[in-house]
Amino acid sequence: MNQWLDDRLHISRLNDKFLRKAFPVHHSFFLGEITLFSLIILILTGILLALSYEPSTQLVNGVPAAYASVLRINSLPFGDMTRRIHHWSANIMVAAAVVHMFRIYFSGAFKRPREVNWWIGMLLLIFTVLTAVTGYVLPDDNFAFTTLGVIYNITHSIPWIGDIIAKIAFAGDFPGQGVISRFYGYHIMLLPLILLGTTAAHMLIMIKQKHTQPMYAAKLAYKKIVGVPLSTQQTPIMIILLLLQAGIILLFSAFIPVHPVEVFGPPDVLNPVANIKPDWYLVWIFGVLAIWPPQLSFTFAGGEFNTEFFGALVIPGVIIGLMMAVPLLDRAKENMYYAEAPTEHPKRLAAGIAFCTLMLVLSVAGYKADLLQAKVMSSDMANPIFWVLSVVLPIAAYFATLGIVRGIKSLREADARETLAHGHPTETTAHSADD
Ligand code: HEM
Repeated sequence: MNQWLDDRLHISRLNDKFLRKAFPVHHSFFLGEITLFSLIILILTGILLALSYEPSTQLVNGVPAAYASVLRINSLPFGDMTRRIHHWSANIMVAAAVVHMFRIYFSGAFKRPREVNWWIGMLLLIFTVLTAVTGYVLPDDNFAFTTLGVIYNITHSIPWIGDIIAKIAFAGDFPGQGVISRFYGYHIMLLPLILLGTTAAHMLIMIKQKHTQPMYAAKLAYKKIVGVPLSTQQTPIMIILLLLQAGIILLFSAFIPVHPVEVFGPPDVLNPVANIKPDWYLVWIFGVLAIWPPQLSFTFAGGEFNTEFFGALVIPGVIIGLMMAVPLLDRAKENMYYAEAPTEHPKRLAAGIAFCTLMLVLSVAGYKADLLQAKVMSSDMANPIFWVLSVVLPIAAYFATLGIVRGIKSLREADARETLAHGHPTETTAHSADD
């Protein structure tokens, strides 16, 4: 039977090419897999939700059909649970993709020959976030409606062409009748297709170029691929990981409710949700918007350059551009083979920590309105404080990281010298002295 199939379908070739692929045994390589599993869970639960969701703003008993259908899903057996699983998987996907990106960054896995996969990965991250945002607006409750208003204003703020782009993206003016079905198309067709295509490219390139090897592989067999084959050793490891992840998502979903549509109620043009915030991974953009000085707005050749344009498009664009440029900073002519220890590259490590610090400060700035309300700071001091913190804290984090890494390095060197001189490290000496 095997031979019969092989003569026709050349399955053994597939086996040699893909199923024997060696996977490095190191937990940090699970991050990409967790991201991938989240995508699969999202697609499966998304299909289930699409069976009962109605992408329409037509009024049914005085509320939009989309809103009514989400209330109906909540009342179905496992309906609310399916929404929760979908929601938590989305958060885990973004979180896993971000940590996966940092793993690639800190271990230098973006270097030649993997630059293209870094860029494809960045696209994956951007499309993942876009998919999440387009999903947020589908329940058509007052939160979704207010969110749509914010996205519309941001799109509309592009000088000269913002109006036409917003009309195309929102199927007319906002609020309009076609917006929910338009965003439904983005969320369930366009963006998932892009995500699947981009993920396939990401995986094929990874298989072609092979994983970077963990450092222990160099000691086992220098410049040889060390790892366990996909079939059969890596497959059970992946299944266990998937089950663990599914268990954690189910636990979260069982105990922590998500976006309560009934609390927000149907869209209310006159009473948008006050002080609205996006999910955690976009709060930093709200931070930039909150502290961007309105005096920097201007008009040029009939085009308006306002706070929304700078805060939500230009600054995030610059940050994404810098992230895209990461592989260009390395000018090595040789292919990179082994994952590097982050502490061996203190400047890269420090720059990464400084970047995280900046994102953290901007995310706190996203809560400016709440901080003002709680009287933690006064309204005239808030912007200067956040601007100073956005500059000072990342610089401080950069030098603190360099200092700590150098300190650890000199301690290690001292240990090595001690071992060389006395045959054992300082710690042991101190210990025996205590004895
Ligand atoms: C959002 C969806 C993403 C998925 C589903 C995904 C999936 C994966 C998987 C399964 C691997 C192999 C296992 C591993 O190395 O962890 C991998 C490797 C890789 N990913 Fe991603 N990834 C995503 C996003 C990203 C991002 C945001 C970046 C960076 C900007 C990135 C860059 C890379 C690179 C360079 C490799 C090769 C790493 C190596 O050989 O060590 N990926 N990805």
